[in-house]
Amino acid sequence: MKILVTGGLGFIGSHTVVELQNEGFEVVAIDNLSNSSIDVLDGIERITQKKPLFENIDLRDKLAVQDFFKKHQDIAGVIHFAASKAVGESVENPLLYYENNINSLVYLLQELQKKPESYFIFSSSCTVYGQAEKMPITENAPVQQAMSPYGNTKQIGEEIITDVAKVSNINSILLRYFNPIGAHDSAEIGELPIGVPQNLIPFITQTAYGLREKLAVFGNDYPTIDGTAVRDYIHVVDLAKAHVVALKRLLNKQNTDKVETFNLGTGKGSSVLEVIKAFEKVSGQKLNYQIVGRREGDITEAYANTEKANSILGWKTALSLEEALASAWKWENKVRNKQQ
Ligand code: WQD
Repeated sequence: MKILVTGGLGFIGSHTVVELQNEGFEVVAIDNLSNSSIDVLDGIERITQKKPLFENIDLRDKLAVQDFFKKHQDIAGVIHFAASKAVGESVENPLLYYENNINSLVYLLQELQKKPESYFIFSSSCTVYGQAEKMPITENAPVQQAMSPYGNTKQIGEEIITDVAKVSNINSILLRYFNPIGAHDSAEIGELPIGVPQNLIPFITQTAYGLREKLAVFGNDYPTIDGTAVRDYIHVVDLAKAHVVALKRLLNKQNTDKVETFNLGTGKGSSVLEVIKAFEKVSGQKLNYQIVGRREGDITEAYANTEKANSILGWKTALSLEEALASAWKWENKVRNKQQ
């Protein structure tokens, strides 16, 4: 069966391509290489001994999307990762985010709507909950006013999918990720942030490697165990496997609704200081950090209620925070050593 993975050379996309190929699926990856490298194809091949089909397409190009689906009539399912995803950048350049994240989704759905039956996995985010009232966060927690244009594009994306499902044969699963971290244990693929990392873990590994002078910890006056903000850090390989499970659920017609939603997290919250301590343990070195003021738009805490994913999807995480941090550190060292 041929599966389309958009953003297939990106961080989560590439790890999902590996898991799909491990399960025997034929994969065609689309990527415009705006936030990834063509070398990721070789990394995937070194892990699975199989290079996915690849097309360098920008999903904002409606004709290119139409041509792709004319060429690949046998696409059995779609996993849609391709999107801009930097919260801060989305505040500075909202139209880039609305054009890219919304138009791409619309053009994809217009092609799927032409098929008698189609199966669609959408990369969403816990950011749709904003600061949820109650921890751990269930899928019924209210979707709140987005904290950024990036978060808003995820909310709008979910609404578009829901509206289209009512008048089409598109069966969808919305996967709301918490905080994806780490890398494949082969260190052949991983996170490749361009420029100064926005996210915590790549900033930690770059600081530990000596590329950054120190980590700024954004605030220690939150009402949490140690004053620093709490998140649910999920290993990207666990996350990738959840996509294969969700896709199979649709392909096997086990879904009970046209649109199903699942939170994907470990169910455990970790504070920034707890992450730093865990990193120091796995890396064997002290991390240089300084507490500074809060970052605009950050929430205090978010961690997933995993019951629905465990019971209905039949999936739960298997890898620990320490394993994720160790894999991120191994990847950082491999990438930097290769660059030297
Ligand atoms: C985690 C914690 C920061 C950097 C966002 C998006 C989410 C997803 C992941 C795309 C926070 C603190 C961070 C630093 C720090 N994005 N931090 N110093 O903001 O929880 O989630 O990225 O898929 O949708 O909302 O992740 O890694 O940026 O921050 O202290 O240099 O680390 O304040 O508490 P976040 P993050």
